This record gives sequence, structure tokens and C-alpha cells, in this order.
Amino acid sequence: MEDRRLLTLYGSQTGTAQDVADRVVREAKRRHFSAKSVAMDSYNVANLIQEPLVIFVCSTTGQGDPPDNMKMFWKFLLRKDLPSNSLCQLHFAVLGLGDSSYQKFNVVAKRLQKRLEQLGGHSIFPLGLADDQHDLGVDAVVTPWLADLWKAVLDIYPLPPGVEVVSSDICPQSKYKVKFIKDKPSVNGHSASYGHREPSPVLTTQPVVEPDLSPGRIPDALFPFPAHLLSNERLTAADHFQDVRLIKFDITGSNIRYLPGDVVMIQPENMPDSVEEFLSLLGVDPEQQFVLEQNDPDVPLPANFPSPCSVRWLLTRYLDFNSVPRRSFFELLKYHADDELELEKLEEFCSPQGQEELYSYCNRVKRTILEVLEDFSKTTARVPFEYFFDLIPALQPRAFSIASSPKAHPNELHILMAVVNYRTKLHRPRRGVCSTWLSSLSPDENVLSVPIWVKKGTIQFPNDLAIPLIMVGPGTGLAPFRSVIHDRCTGSHGGLVLFFGCRSQFKDFFCADEFRSLIEAGHLQMFTAFSRDQDEKIYVQHRLRENGSLVWKMIHEERASFFIAGNAKNMPDDVKEAVCDVISKYGSMSAENAMMYIQNLEKGRRFQVEAWS
Ligand code: 2AM
Repeated sequence: MEDRRLLTLYGSQTGTAQDVADRVVREAKRRHFSAKSVAMDSYNVANLIQEPLVIFVCSTTGQGDPPDNMKMFWKFLLRKDLPSNSLCQLHFAVLGLGDSSYQKFNVVAKRLQKRLEQLGGHSIFPLGLADDQHDLGVDAVVTPWLADLWKAVLDIYPLPPGVEVVSSDICPQSKYKVKFIKDKPSVNGHSASYGHREPSPVLTTQPVVEPDLSPGRIPDALFPFPAHLLSNERLTAADHFQDVRLIKFDITGSNIRYLPGDVVMIQPENMPDSVEEFLSLLGVDPEQQFVLEQNDPDVPLPANFPSPCSVRWLLTRYLDFNSVPRRSFFELLKYHADDELELEKLEEFCSPQGQEELYSYCNRVKRTILEVLEDFSKTTARVPFEYFFDLIPALQPRAFSIASSPKAHPNELHILMAVVNYRTKLHRPRRGVCSTWLSSLSPDENVLSVPIWVKKGTIQFPNDLAIPLIMVGPGTGLAPFRSVIHDRCTGSHGGLVLFFGCRSQFKDFFCADEFRSLIEAGHLQMFTAFSRDQDEKIYVQHRLRENGSLVWKMIHEERASFFIAGNAKNMPDDVKEAVCDVISKYGSMSAENAMMYIQNLEKGRRFQVEAWS
């Protein structure tokens, strides 16, 4: 057969685009392509000029930015010195994943499509724009888009006579092989279906990456710093609905350097009770050791995966079984179903008619993979152990805005974290993996450490300390501002004005004492908005409007920089609107000109937003 190479490059923030990219690869393999999927920033972009066929799958983050793992790739593609025919050999298609409730819907995919065309690439299929707001989620667009894409691809790469598309009834091979080291008997006796009863253990065929402990090495995703907790303090009143923590890490000797505005990445663990629940479902010995091996030349082993590894480690540190399953999970689970009822249900979930039911089964109640595996327990018992790597995504690190200052809190790194804990519409309790785990840790358990590393955040405060700052940070949006305020207060600085919002001055006005002393010392001016201490809502934007003349004077005359941070979905836009009103009123200009004024501030990095959900 001719050279049938298909590359899928993805840019994924939360894993959805990666899941879709993996699906493209599975479907490509059924069409006899040699196919693999790679995160854009893990791909050597210089090789793009030799690729015959690339499917791009990328999401757009809230503010219209590309995901972190495609930022370098995108920057390279934008280089002005790239000749306009650089990619003239390339056939490509772009699939965007976005959310139409945000202004910049799928803007990354749209720009990528345009840029690839400018560079001479041949678009073989119209840009796909999937929307998370759709009743059925992104699959409503992804599934039909892919079906039609394959028609276009097979027009260019027809199958040779007599060769058929491999039926989707045939189970694809697993990503990895698992070799169990000891043949311990299982508890409930169904381990025979795990297919791991090897007569003699094979220890490892892969080089294990040794931690680079050279002096001066900066911790990163591959070699995080194991940080001990200094404290874990609840900042909100015991009877407040939300548990917000100030967590302090000891980073002595870590080589971690950070600036206000930076972000700390934290690699979480699953809680022991949910690990036990999964273990009881599997019925395997948690201390059973195994070695992971490559099973596909295109799929490398996960970096730094321990060898050998115990089942308990795998469930605690690697498999994200508390996440909501994606469609591919059901497609893969189906191959192992034998029980008539379960098979029927899984087939329905994977059919075009079953999409609405699948969506409501999973997303309305935010059902976890573990719960689904329990619902389909007969099928779960038949899943070969190595297939859990295909079924369940890897736990992803979580990003937190750093809330401390390297100058004011040497050798420490702090975060402000809201513990995610809520009930779904069907009253099922749900908890966030990372925040629940972190909040459960106690500094006394000195053996415990949290894997961390630091990244540049989207906020960059001006280097010139004399430049005044206006900061708007309701709730945990306070984090980067606590950092920069403490940092600047260690020396002389320009004006610092903080707008802080929370529900009640008695329940969640965190860090109040700290700021009070900075205000008394003349370092800081602060305006507070307590949204629920009175009948009508008062938000930070009300306080901004009330103090419009100060805000305008600082921006226009003192050339202050303006920052917004927080997690309320509509807050950044609402605050921006208030700033626009202020500029229009006190600068005597039309709303249109005020918006242009803000755009100019944005261009000069004097108006920045960091939002998270
Ligand atoms: P609420 O919960 O009473 O609506 C921190 O979360 C603070 O931000 C809370 O006081 C919250 O108020 C407030 N908040 C919620 N939505 C907001 C918005 N669109 N703009 C500004 N503040 C908002």
C-alpha cells in the first residue's frame, strides 16, 4: 500500500481536544493509515513541511487564547519570515472546539485555518466548529464532521482494490502492554480476564527517565518539586457555603523562582476513599506490581511512569477516574461487553440516536468514570487491565494563581483555593479532585509532599514599580493581587488600588487583617463590594463606577495599569463594561471611543485579564 501517513496535531487545555485527536487516530487506523496524535508543542514544527496530511484539533480558551500546549507552535506559525508557500505539500483540515457563550468563539481554530491557507496548505475539508453549548456538547458537530472528513480523505487516499475499512466492531489494540510481576491471586477471581498471567516477569524494556537532580535545575512537569505544606488554613467562616483555603508551601532548595502574576501547577492525587472504591470494583490486589510496555511504535510510554508500578499508585496518581467520561470511553468499553443488557445500552450510547441520552446520562449529573464502571460492572470485570489506560485519561495538573510574594514570603509559595464541592441537579455530591485532596492535607504529615512547578501566568505586572496599579479581584481572584501588593510593599512603589468583592464582610472577606495593616501604613487603597450583606447586589463594578473619577485620573494622568482576575464567568466582561462607562463619562468620549481607548491599553499591556473557571 502507498505511504498513508496521517498526523493529528492537537492543542488541548482540558483534554477534550486530545480525546478527539485520539479518536481521529483510531478512525484513521481503521482506514489503513499509519496515524498518531501529538500535542502541537511536542511536535517538531520544522517537520511540518514534510507532512502530507494533518488533521488539526484545537480548543479555544475563555479569553480567546490558544491552549498552553500549542502556544509555541502557534507563535512559530505566525512568524513573518515564513514563505507563503512553505506548506504547499500539506493537505489539512481543522476542527475547533469552543464555547459559543464566550465572545471569541473558536477563534483559535479560525485563525489557524486562515494561517495554514496563507502558508500554502490545501484545506481538504471545511473548518469544523464544535460548540460546548450545544445540547449534546461538542460531539454534535464532531461526529458528523468526522464522518464527512473521511469521505474527503479517502477521495485523496483511496483504499486499494479489495481493501476495506476495518469494521468498528473490531476492538482496537491497547495503547500499552501490562506485565504483572507477581502472579498474586485476585480477590473475586475474575482476574483471569486481565490477560496478565505471564510465566516470568519482564521487568522493563523502556529506559526509565532518571530525575535530573543537577544543581540549578528548575522544576517542571517532568520533574516537579515535592513541596511540603507549611499550613492549610480555612479563610471563610465555618458556616459559609464555600471553603476557601490559604495553602502555604515550603519551596526551600527547590530552585523555583517566580514573580507576581505567575502560576503554580499542582499534580493532584485521587482521594484514598475513591481509590478504595475503584479497587473493590476491580478486585485486584492494590500492591500488585506491574511494568508498562509500549504496544504501538507511535505511542510512547507516559513520561516518568514508575517501573515497576503498583496498582495503588496507578489509581492514586495516574488514572483520572473521577472525571466525566467522554464519548470515546463508551466506544471502547463496548468492545468488552458480553452481558446483553449492558451491551445494548452501550450500543445505544454509541449510536447517533443515542447521543441525547448519553449526554444526559453523563453530563447532567456529572457522572464519573468510576460510577459508570460500577453501572456497567459486568463489562468492567471483563476489561483487560491494560485497557484502563485507553479508557481513562491521565490526571492533569491544575493551575493556581500564586498568591504570595517572593520578596515578602521568601522560600514560600501560597495559593488561595476554593474547595470545589457541590451537588448536581440530582443531588449527587461532587467534589473537585485537586482541591479536595489539597484541603485534606495537613502540614503535620511531614512525609506528604505535593508535586509542583511554576509557569508564566497571563498577567504580567509592569517591571517599573512606580507605575500605579488598579486591581479588580473578587473572590479567589484576589490571589495574584495579594502577591503583587505584598511584593511592592517591601519597598517604594506607585499607587496600589484594590477592588475586592465577596458575599459578606463577616463570612468570606479573606485576608482582611493583612490588608488593613497595609492600608493603615499608607501602602494600599481598597474598595470592597459585599454582594449579599444587603438586599440589593453590590459588585466590584458598582464600586468602580462610584469611584470613576479616581479610576480615570489614575489611568489617564498617572498611566496606571489595570488588572482583572477571578473565576466568575461574566465578571470580566461586566467589569470591562464598567471601565468603559467610566472612561466615556470622565474622559468625555463616546462608548465606541472608550472601547478603543481600552483596546489601546490592552495593546500596551496596560489592561490585562486572568480568568479561570
Ligand atoms: P454573588 O455570589 O453574590 O453573585 C466572589 O465570588 C464575588 O463575586 C461574590 O460576591 C459574587 O457575588 C461576585 N460576583 C458574581 N458574579 C459577578 C459578576 N458578574 N461581576 C462581579 N462580581 C460577581
